[in-house]
Amino acid sequence: MNLAKDLAAEQRAFLGRDKGRWQDHLARARAFLGEGLAAADPAAPVLILGAGSGLEVPWDLAPASAVGWDGDPWSRVRTFLRHRRFPPWVFQDLTGGLDELAALAWRTARQPWSGRIRATRVATRRLAGLAASLDPRPEPLRAWIRLHRPGTILAANLMGQFGVVAQRLVERAFQGRPPWTPDPELPDPLEQAIHAWTARAVRAWLAALLESGADLWLIHDRGVIFGSVPVTLGPMEASWLAQLRAAGPLEVSDPLCGVEPAAEFKGRPISRHHRWIWPVAPGQTHVMEAMRIASGNPDEILMQHVSLLTPS
Ligand SMILES: C[S@@+](CC[C@H](N)C(=O)[O-])C[C@H]1O[C@@H](n2cnc3c(N)ncnc32)[C@H](O)[C@@H]1O
Repeated sequence: MNLAKDLAAEQRAFLGRDKGRWQDHLARARAFLGEGLAAADPAAPVLILGAGSGLEVPWDLAPASAVGWDGDPWSRVRTFLRHRRFPPWVFQDLTGGLDELAALAWRTARQPWSGRIRATRVATRRLAGLAASLDPRPEPLRAWIRLHRPGTILAANLMGQFGVVAQRLVERAFQGRPPWTPDPELPDPLEQAIHAWTARAVRAWLAALLESGADLWLIHDRGVIFGSVPVTLGPMEASWLAQLRAAGPLEVSDPLCGVEPAAEFKGRPISRHHRWIWPVAPGQTHVMEAMRIASGNPDEILMQHVSLLTPS
């Protein structure tokens, strides 16, 4: 499956990076996720999403009931090698929509009669139009939650990857012929469509987490900054952009494509919310965000959600 290959390639690239300046990030991520694991009710299942190889996850603190979930086919073995734990694991796509997007891109990128690649303006415009009707829904995650009723869910730094992986799948369908508009000054309908798809995937995924009623501990890329201008964060603000402090203009990008997670947790108090800087690589700095949303009754949460969606 393409998705598994892409996730494995992303993970190899992630682990292959120079981690010289990752200490502060890793310490913060492990401390936050470790707190979630230590506070978890050992009688209820604990679900660790984006568990990867366990670089950020202190598995030694995880109760025996903990289950890992990661689409990278090597993640469980890598976790075993790192932590000497071989937990139960789910390998499915957490957005629930990447296969459908990949299949659509694959079909649109080919001439139906010859099967030849057509990375033409018409093909990419057509894909942009069709992608607008895709509605990614995390049904495998919802089904797992319904069946196992986890008391605690950790999301270990994967939400910011949904858009990157979607882009890779689209590029792969065009087999090396870049489908994007080359001139960054011109609007790119396909890029906009993938951006909108990512925003829908992030929203649907957050809604599934919220409906679970579990104690939620989330870490994710909130922003990405390109270039070498040194950047720090000012005091906590609702907007991550408002927190940036730098001596010059910054080139920034929003991996969550405009979705503000805090705004999605309607009616549920966020008991912990903070951000820090992660120098991922030369020229690439991430603004990380950690949030804890204490558990609630799933039926009440679902009713709140429905009443917020229903016009009065
Ligand atoms: C930045 S890495 C996080 C590393 C991990 N927390 C660790 O401690 O090693 C993101 C992880 O999310 C997984 N992932 C990304 N998108 C996914 C998706 N749609 N479905 C399932 N897993 C996904 C990747 O395979 C990767 O392992």
